[in-house]
Amino acid sequence: MMTETVVVERKKHTLPTLFKKVADHVPISWLTCYDYPTAYLQEKAGIDMILVGDSLGMTILGYEGTLPVTMDAMILHTQAVRRGAPSTFIVGDMPYMSYQPSVETAIRNAGRFMAEAGCDAIKLEGGIEMCDRIRGIVQAGIPTIGHLGLTPQSVAALGGFRVQGKGAEQAKRIMDSAKAIEEAGAFMILLEMVPDAVCKLITERAKDCIIMSLGSGPNAHGQLLIYHDMFGLYPKFKPRMAKVFGNAGEVILKGLTQYVSEVTGHTFPQKENYFTMPDVEYKKLLTMI
Ligand code: KIV
Repeated sequence: MMTETVVVERKKHTLPTLFKKVADHVPISWLTCYDYPTAYLQEKAGIDMILVGDSLGMTILGYEGTLPVTMDAMILHTQAVRRGAPSTFIVGDMPYMSYQPSVETAIRNAGRFMAEAGCDAIKLEGGIEMCDRIRGIVQAGIPTIGHLGLTPQSVAALGGFRVQGKGAEQAKRIMDSAKAIEEAGAFMILLEMVPDAVCKLITERAKDCIIMSLGSGPNAHGQLLIYHDMFGLYPKFKPRMAKVFGNAGEVILKGLTQYVSEVTGHTFPQKENYFTMPDVEYKKLLTMI
């Protein structure tokens, strides 16, 4: 079946745009993105929010995890994304050790995302223990998003990439953190890989805070997916929660194999793939060399 491509022209997405969607019960769409051409396509498709995630350490740079990602790398990629998606609500993801050391470090690095990369908000990982960082960043006038459940920067402490909050006690801790983060001033909380029932309870109890789900079920105000998982572009693994909306990885691999075969077999390039010069100029050139 053919599906029609819908191109969306729109005004800049802002915080009121997101809160209006929540009020109108329209789920918010959110994707990761790390480069200009993908940002361009995501905006054309009508995505509400982009997360320039430190997952780029894995998806773009090929590290095993997110810890080696630097603030400078995040700024560079976020600037490219902003150029490709001028009207999308863009979130800069605070990389490892850009906010953990102190409130001041957190405010300075959050400020870099806003001033140097044109972000609309920042996201950081962690629960109650990060409330002073969140409060500080919010007081500096920077919209802030919390991230609970599976928090990849703490994957060693969490014992691997696994669902968080399956047991009542851990679920209660996540709920307490969500409440504390909201009270510290976060306007949004991302719940990654927590059970749907816990996500539902947190969403129902949120007062002035938008709850987003990544693998945490349908009962949030919106959904986030990792772009590379959606399109078969991360060769190492596909998380169970990710749906593959199209296998771009397979298409690209097929094209690359064909390119190798055409170059090897002298069938590329054809006349339309290169440039010629007038005969008279060529003859003249021969007399000159
Ligand atoms: O870096 C990232 O893409 C993230 C998601 C896993 C939520 O933080």
